Amino acid sequence: MTGNELREAYLQFFAEKKGHLRLPSFSLIPQDDPTLLLIGAGMAPLKPFFTGKMKPPRTRVTTSQRCVRTGDIENVGRTARHQTYFEMLGNFSFGDYFKGEAIPWAWEFLTEVVELPKDKLWVTVYPDDDEAIEIWKSQPGFPQDHVVKLDDNFWEIGPGPCGPDSEIYIDLGPERGCGKPTCGVGCDCDRYLEIWNLVFTQYDRQEDGSYKDLAHKNIDTGCGLERLASVVQGKKTNFETDLLYPIIEYASKVSGVKYGEDEAKDVSLKVIADHARSMAIMIMDGILPSNEGRGYVLRRILRRAIRHGRMLGITGKFLEGAVDAVVEIYKDASDFGELVAKHDYIKKVISIEEDRFAATLNQGMDLLNKEIDELKAAGKKALPGEIGFRLYDTFGFPWELTEEILHEQGLDLDKDGFDKAMEEQRQRARAARAANIRVQVPDLSGIDVSKLAVDPEAKESKVVAIWKDGKLASEIHDGEEAGIILEKTPFYAEGGG
Ligand code: SER
Repeated sequence: MTGNELREAYLQFFAEKKGHLRLPSFSLIPQDDPTLLLIGAGMAPLKPFFTGKMKPPRTRVTTSQRCVRTGDIENVGRTARHQTYFEMLGNFSFGDYFKGEAIPWAWEFLTEVVELPKDKLWVTVYPDDDEAIEIWKSQPGFPQDHVVKLDDNFWEIGPGPCGPDSEIYIDLGPERGCGKPTCGVGCDCDRYLEIWNLVFTQYDRQEDGSYKDLAHKNIDTGCGLERLASVVQGKKTNFETDLLYPIIEYASKVSGVKYGEDEAKDVSLKVIADHARSMAIMIMDGILPSNEGRGYVLRRILRRAIRHGRMLGITGKFLEGAVDAVVEIYKDASDFGELVAKHDYIKKVISIEEDRFAATLNQGMDLLNKEIDELKAAGKKALPGEIGFRLYDTFGFPWELTEEILHEQGLDLDKDGFDKAMEEQRQRARAARAANIRVQVPDLSGIDVSKLAVDPEAKESKVVAIWKDGKLASEIHDGEEAGIILEKTPFYAEGGG
């Protein structure tokens, strides 16, 4: 089954066989939910239905929710599973069915529709949840000793609906394991892969950390589409499934770097594949790169991808082609019409951002590499905050990117110093606003302004006018302050100058 077929099979199973209302994915931008920056779980946009704050269109709903999580971004590409963008298949009950249905339906879908081998499936449950254990044990062909009690089987995401959960794992075989005698379900290694989480949502976590009973019991399930695809398609990582691999192939073609030959280069190929999907979907949902909030998350993802492109030796722009590969993957899937419709727009946004960062990336990297050499030579461990700030302010390096590059070299960023430099900059900006500083423009009447141009490539130009103390002048000398007008300039005014 392709990834798109798997999504379809899941949604059809719950919609057509189990009476669920099939809804399209919600936007990545949370609505009326100040606790979240981005939607990071299938249940997140449905919170008001769990709490009873809003009446759902039906008490059974199924979705394939587009999600972005960046908490573990440094792990992307380094493990088989970490991604910033993923789809979460889910079936939800708002005061309708509970464990007695959710468990058998998950079993039926996995063993009869997807036809996973029953003897390779394992489940975990919250230690006191005997009811769930009994239900699992009564499923047809369920291996009776494949239930494990785990203390941390409780799912919550900040304040809101939550509850004990039961996870389904597949045993990928001892050859994928760590070989330790303690290895089993819940081990950190790659042998036992969690593919589905069934949450028995019955509490509402309050801002103060306490739990209140919800008015009714609910079901929230989440099954990672890419993970399930990796199992069904027999791939070692999510990146080799048809939901990601075409982007790797594209990046490989542009860079001339083959996948699977060099571990570090594979990381960069995987980062580009993951980030290309995130940026395309974020822009599709109306997010634009900026220095704040969601826009900053997008900017960080974009700039990180560009840097990994450079690490593969790609010198020119390449992300628009990566977006083409993303659209190609989803173009025939239901619920991706907006991606196809906004294809050109997404490329345009990315192209502008790529130009902006490309203009300063090499200079910034030169500066950072020089600093890294000096730190190492001096036996120091942390890059001073003001240099991190200069990279951010002048060269457009998100501070997390600087930090990550430093981490790769066993170094760190002095974050306190960075924050201090940032605060000082804010104060300067406030003072400048208060002083009403403006761009000073002299009398240009004697100058043919039609010849003046902004040219990002301009390296040499002609001075066409000089002004000093508000008046045109014919010369200036060392130590004097003056303004000049160039025939061609790579500079442009931003945010009022
Ligand atoms: N909310 C749970 C999770 O994200 C199940 O959907 O794992």
